[in-house]
Amino acid sequence: MDRTFVMVKPDGVARGLIGEMVSRFEKKGLRLVAARLEKLPEKRVMEQYREHLEKPFFPSLRHYITSGPVFLMVWEGKSAVTVVRALVGATNPAEAAPGTIRGDFALDIGRNVIHASDSPESAKREIALHFTQEDLCSYKRVDEAVLYE
Ligand code: RTP
Ligand code: MG
Repeated sequence: MDRTFVMVKPDGVARGLIGEMVSRFEKKGLRLVAARLEKLPEKRVMEQYREHLEKPFFPSLRHYITSGPVFLMVWEGKSAVTVVRALVGATNPAEAAPGTIRGDFALDIGRNVIHASDSPESAKREIALHFTQEDLCSYKRVDEAVLYE
């Protein structure tokens, strides 16, 4: 089982899309193991996006991510990192396939409604950045007996 970190960005929260996004991950069969609504402190935004600190778009990215509350989640399941990235779609919503979250709900790369970890290593780092071990709930979905071979 993999775990991945997912964040509904401030535009997604403000547009009332939390439930829609959670529903897609639930329907896929993934298990929600932690969640929190929070306005991110600057320090954690810098940590979250440390690979982009020197990029020209970083100041606008930081402003965007701190513009309102975000909805932080950890999802668990078989190949969760890959599966969630596929459900989220391409970074630029103009290139995101219809049926993906960004393909269905966004237009602008600077307002692409959701973040998802890009590798198991990133997921591990990002989960530890936003959640404690005690935040991560351990339970089974009743349908897991038929979801997996
Ligand atoms: P994310 O980290 O938010 O899940 O997005 P991603 O992996 O698909 O894309 P990444 O390359 O990590 O970029 C992080 C976020 O920065 C903003 N961005 N703006 N204006 C631009 O050229 C540009 N490029 C990236 C986006 O909000 C992107 O999701
Ligand atoms: Mg990224």
